[in-house]
Amino acid sequence: MSSDIPQFTHPSAPVEAFDEKPSPHGDLTSVLITEDELKARILQMGADIARDYADKNPLFIGVLKGAVYFMTDLTRSVDCPLTLDFMAVSSYGDAHKSSGVVRIIKDLNEPVTDRHVIILEDILDTGLTLKYLARNFHGRGAASVAIATLLLKEGTQAVPLDVQYVGFTIPDAFVVGYGLDYAQQYRNLPYIGVLKPALYAE
Ligand code: IMP
Repeated sequence: MSSDIPQFTHPSAPVEAFDEKPSPHGDLTSVLITEDELKARILQMGADIARDYADKNPLFIGVLKGAVYFMTDLTRSVDCPLTLDFMAVSSYGDAHKSSGVVRIIKDLNEPVTDRHVIILEDILDTGLTLKYLARNFHGRGAASVAIATLLLKEGTQAVPLDVQYVGFTIPDAFVVGYGLDYAQQYRNLPYIGVLKPALYAE
């Protein structure tokens, strides 16, 4: 991360001293975040969001497909009125590094005008995808735009961005599971694991 990029503003989610567990899956080097750890942290995030948005009827916008598991678990722990919508964008294709090009594959069904939007993302890497989406929703007249990301990779951000809710700050490794894929595979693993680099090495 270059020094002229401001720090992210979000309630601190320190880089965990992850107690990496051996993986039950042969394509992973380890399990980084277990099912129980995901569940506990997402419950806390839901409580934080419910407290902050109690009377705002927020519109949660899930970024397909990676945020699907996070979205279904998180929103069930947000105890206030809310609505849901989805957006699909592509920035990765089947490669493991961001192209920096964001393309809308599926747009929203509901207008965001005057709505308090919370974008739900699986992982924030360069930040290009979320930067694009936040700007896009502001441009469509949202009353406010917040970002909730399950994972934040440490030190890989290329653009300044305000992030209000972070589940876990993780080391810079390529991770899969709980919605995150490599070449569309591994999304259904119930935990987050580190993919063996040999599987995506050029
Ligand atoms: P960004 O625009 O670089 O922040 O990339 C965000 C998108 O890249 C995420 O929504 C993921 O689809 C993908 N991505 C970034 N890092 C990983 C990873 O470690 N595993 C799987 N997908 C990733």
